[in-house]
Amino acid sequence: MDCLNERKSSRDFNDTKEISEQTLSNLLWAAWGYNRADKRTAPSSRNKQEIDIYVVLKKGVYLWDTKTNVLKLIIAQDLRKKTGTQTFVEKAPVNLIFVCNKRKAEAKTEQALTEATYANAGYISQNIYLFCASEGLATVVRGSVPKEDLGKLLNLSENQLIVLAQSVGYPAK
Ligand SMILES: Cc1cc2nc3c(=O)[nH]c(=O)nc-3n(C[C@H](O)[C@H](O)[C@H](O)COP(=O)(O)O)c2cc1C
Repeated sequence: MDCLNERKSSRDFNDTKEISEQTLSNLLWAAWGYNRADKRTAPSSRNKQEIDIYVVLKKGVYLWDTKTNVLKLIIAQDLRKKTGTQTFVEKAPVNLIFVCNKRKAEAKTEQALTEATYANAGYISQNIYLFCASEGLATVVRGSVPKEDLGKLLNLSENQLIVLAQSVGYPAK
């Protein structure tokens, strides 16, 4: 009840206080980790588990390998600013990008794909909101993402679709 009461969007990030590796690990598990052999903390349509999370930090962009809980380095550059259109984005120590793998989704139509993957991303996002409420972290989910440009920067394939982004950090005050 407390987490739900505290759940909110915040856009005012402390740009000097980093999130520890343990907290990031916990956050990612809460978001979309395995809580059963082949099922996760968020539901997915037909259990296709089609969303990958890219983790954009000051030191680089990583792909979270959920099974091994390892962050695999994709680009050793600070691309936080490129993940959004709003000025707070570059201040947030963590920007998460939810990317749909269309092959995994195996949807019959583009509309079915869109409906399912946006719903899936919404559950992941809410898990992050509630985790952040429990940890005193600030967060905001973002549809405002320069998807085409960011997709090129991340070398995404035509089978990958950026769905939403979410900024996370400690509150400025
Ligand atoms: C699908 C979706 C997209 C959103 N996109 C943005 C965004 O691009 N930038 C932003 O600052 N907030 C974004 N928000 C956050 C909403 O503005 C926020 O949830 C709303 O104002 C209600 O505030 P609350 O989350 O504190 O209850 C988005 C929310 C949702 C659900």
